[in-house]
Amino acid sequence: MLEQSQSIILVKDLRKKYKGAEEEALKGIDLVVRRGELFGLIGPNSAGKTTLISILCGLLKYDEGMVEIDGINMKFDYKKIKGKIGLIPQEIALHSSLTVKENLNYFGSLQGITGKDLENRVEDCLTILQLHQHSNKKISKCSGGIKRRTNLMAGLIHNPSIVFLDEPTLGVDVQSRNLIFEYLQDLNKLGVTIVYTTHYMREVESLCSRVAIIDDGHRIVEGTPKELIDANIGCFDLTQVFIKLTGKEIRD
Ligand SMILES: Nc1ncnc2c1ncn2[C@@H]1O[C@H](COP(=O)(O)OP(=O)(O)OP(=O)(O)O)[C@@H](O)[C@H]1O
Ligand SMILES: [Mg+2]
Repeated sequence: MLEQSQSIILVKDLRKKYKGAEEEALKGIDLVVRRGELFGLIGPNSAGKTTLISILCGLLKYDEGMVEIDGINMKFDYKKIKGKIGLIPQEIALHSSLTVKENLNYFGSLQGITGKDLENRVEDCLTILQLHQHSNKKISKCSGGIKRRTNLMAGLIHNPSIVFLDEPTLGVDVQSRNLIFEYLQDLNKLGVTIVYTTHYMREVESLCSRVAIIDDGHRIVEGTPKELIDANIGCFDLTQVFIKLTGKEIRD
């Protein structure tokens, strides 16, 4: 069965209600991400994407359901898989008073990387996303795009094999976006499983092997972009599928 043999992330009937909230943010989500996929997680504002990713990274507790990552049940053995997971959060999670390089050093040491290994890895990270010329600039003085690129490398500094990216291209220019895509595709070719959220449907269509649409705490549909387009008569791209399945109403 697919779920047992190929899945690296298996989510069953996942439920989460924030303290004091009237409604559940996740209302019974099922999800399967296969090993080595570049998987797109899309949905309108407030759909529950960040909540789901935060749970899958162990940052947030869930109420009910089951989460298995790389065969490990998160509820009991999260520590066993923690080091394999990388998160690039939606909100920039850098220290504004530290420079680009100091931030990378800080996040590397948090992951237990030390000495020459840390020095080499930070140099690699600066090179990969062309951050060298900004390396000694304080984050508070950096442009939004440089912050995004540094945020990305801070989450990848420990070479994780499962990576969650929560809107990594928000506010970056076309050149930086292209650089980020190329790097993510290279990582994916090396076998890294990537779960990617964005509001840019074209990104998903060109990057992702499979996609799930979530809305109002439910997973509405899951499949390849082509499967979703073919299954929805009258739709010729993912944007049309998305609007058809989630409606035109603006979310709060
Ligand atoms: N810390 C919190 N406390 C209470 N409610 C929260 C909290 N974080 C999120 N929520 C609520 O949970 C629901 C899902 O939010 P979430 O941030 O997961 O959505 P999202 O799909 O990531 O949206 P966006 O596209 O805007 O980033 C929303 O109704 C939101 O208001
Ligand atoms: Mg979000």
